[in-house]
Amino acid sequence: MSPLASRKERPWWRDAVTYQIYPRSYADSNGDGIGDVEGIRSRLPYLKQLGIDAIWISPWYPSPQHDHGYDVADYMDIEPDYGTLAQAETLIKEANDLGIKLIVDIVPNHTSSDHKWFQAALKAGPGSPERDRYMFRDGKGPNGDLPPNNWEAVFGGCAWERVIEADGKPGQWYLHLFAVEQPDLNWENPEVVAHLEDVLKFWLDRGVAGFRIDVAHGMFKEKGLPDIRKDPAASMLGTEHKPFWDQEGVHDIYRSWRKILDSYPGDRMAVAEAWVSPSERIARYVRSDELQNSFNFEMLTTLWDAKEIKTKINNSIDALEEVGAPTSWVFNNHDVVRSVDRLDLGLTNHGDTTLSRQGDPKKLNIARGTLRARSAALMTLALPGGTYLYQGEELAVPEVRDIPEDRLTDPRWKMSGYSDRGRDGCRVPMPWTSNPAGAFGFSTNASLKPEQAWLPQSSWWGTYAVDTQDGVEGSTLSMYRKALAIRKGEEGLGDGPMEWIEAGKDVVAFERPGDFACYINFGAPIELPSNSQVLVSSGPITGHTLPTDTAAWVRLVS
Ligand code: NOJ
Ligand code: CA
Repeated sequence: MSPLASRKERPWWRDAVTYQIYPRSYADSNGDGIGDVEGIRSRLPYLKQLGIDAIWISPWYPSPQHDHGYDVADYMDIEPDYGTLAQAETLIKEANDLGIKLIVDIVPNHTSSDHKWFQAALKAGPGSPERDRYMFRDGKGPNGDLPPNNWEAVFGGCAWERVIEADGKPGQWYLHLFAVEQPDLNWENPEVVAHLEDVLKFWLDRGVAGFRIDVAHGMFKEKGLPDIRKDPAASMLGTEHKPFWDQEGVHDIYRSWRKILDSYPGDRMAVAEAWVSPSERIARYVRSDELQNSFNFEMLTTLWDAKEIKTKINNSIDALEEVGAPTSWVFNNHDVVRSVDRLDLGLTNHGDTTLSRQGDPKKLNIARGTLRARSAALMTLALPGGTYLYQGEELAVPEVRDIPEDRLTDPRWKMSGYSDRGRDGCRVPMPWTSNPAGAFGFSTNASLKPEQAWLPQSSWWGTYAVDTQDGVEGSTLSMYRKALAIRKGEEGLGDGPMEWIEAGKDVVAFERPGDFACYINFGAPIELPSNSQVLVSSGPITGHTLPTDTAAWVRLVS
C-alpha cells in the first residue's frame, strides 16, 4: 500500500486517531462508582464531537480485577460490574453507526488465576494436560524449594509462585511475569493457540474493528527458561538479556492472526503493545504479513528536547518505512505518568520508586507542563501516521499524586514493597462537570461524592472538567477539537511524506503536503515565517512570534 494513496483509498488504520478508554474510569451509568459499558455508550456523542476515528477499550472481560481487567477470567464475556455482552454489542453497533471504530484489548500472555483453565490446572496436578496450558515447572534445590530460575516479575518480586498440591504439600511453581494472579500461558500448547484464535473470531463476528494486543512481545519464552545473565553494564544500556521478551515465536502467531483479520471485510486490524527497542525491532511486528500497527513508545521516554525528539521521529519513521508500515504515536496511556508531569519534570518512565517514576511534585510547574503536553499533542497529530490518545489528555489532566495510600489499587504498590505508588495516578475517573455531585459528573448517581468513586477524585479535580472547557476559546479541549477537525479536512496530514524545516537547534519544524507546517519551539521565542497563517496553536501567539514551549500549525501562503 503506497502511503501516497488518497485518504479514502488507504486503510483507515494507516492514520487513525484512536482514543483509549479505561472502562472503569470513563462514565458510570448505574451509580455504583465504577465506569461501565452503558456509561461509555452515553458518551458517544462527546467522542463524535471530539473528532476521533476509533476507540480502544481496555479489557472489559470478567475479571477479579487484580490488574483491573488485564487478568482475564473469560475472554468471551463482559465483566458483570461493567454490564452485559448484549450491551457491549449495542455499543459496538452504535459506535459503528456514528462512524467510530471500536477496538478491544486482548491479553494473550497470561490469564487470570480465576480462569477455569488455571483452576483446572491446579486440581489436575503435575504432568497433566491441564498444567501444560501454563508454565508449571518443578523447583530447584533438594526439595524443589527454590524457584526454577532467577526471573523477576515486572511489578516486582519473584516471577514464580509455588502451589500446594492435592496432598497438601508445596509442589510445582508457575510463572507469572506480572502479578501472582496473572499466570503466563504456554504458547507452545496448540490448545492455547486455538483458543485465542476463537477469541479473535468471537469479537470480529460482533463487529469490532480490531485488537490492541497486550504484552505483544511476551508469550514465547526462550527454550529451557534460562537464568537471566546479570550484567550491570548491559542494564545501563538497556540491552540486558531478557529470555522472555521479543522471541521469534510471536511472529508466527501474528502471521496467523493477520490471516484471520484479513478474512473479515472492512480492514480489521491489530496494534501491538511491544515494549521493544530499537525501532527496527518494533518494525518486525508490522511487516506486511503481520500486524498493522505497533505502538511507538519512544515519546513515553523522551525528554522535552528538540534534538532528542527529532532523532526519535527520524529513527521511528525510517525503521517503519523499511517495512511499509505507518508509525503510531503515543504520549499517554494507562501505564505511564501523565504527559503534563512527564514533560515538565523530564521523566523518562524509568525507575521503580514513586520519586523516580513520578518525579518531585515540588518542582512541578503545571502551567509549563500543560503547555508542553498540548504542544506534544499538536506535534503528533501533524506527524505522518496514526496517533493513540488516552482519555483525559484532551483536558490536560495532570498526574494525581494525592490518592490516600489505603485507596491505592495498582498491584505494583504492594509488589514493589510499597516503594512505588504505581499507576493509579493516571487512572482517576474522568471529570465531566465542575460540580462535585456524582463524582464530578462521572456517575449518574448525584449523591456519589468524589472520594466515593472507585478511585477517589481529589477536590481540585473538577477544575479540569469537560464542562469548564467546552466551547471555551483556548481551552485544551477546544484545541484538541480544532486540531482534529483540521486534520480531517487536510489531505496532506496523516499518512504520507514530511520534510524537515531548518529553524534552529531548539525548534522541531516540518512541512506536510498542502503548504502545511508544524513548528514546536523548545527554546527562546522565535519568529514564524512571515507568510504563515496560524491555524491552531498550543498557547497564545501574538503576531508571528512563537513563544517558548509552544507549537503552531500554520499554512504557508504564497
Ligand atoms: C500492559 C498493560 O498495559 C498493563 O496495564 C498491564 O498491567 C500489563 N500489560 C499486564 O497485562
Ligand atoms: Ca457502574
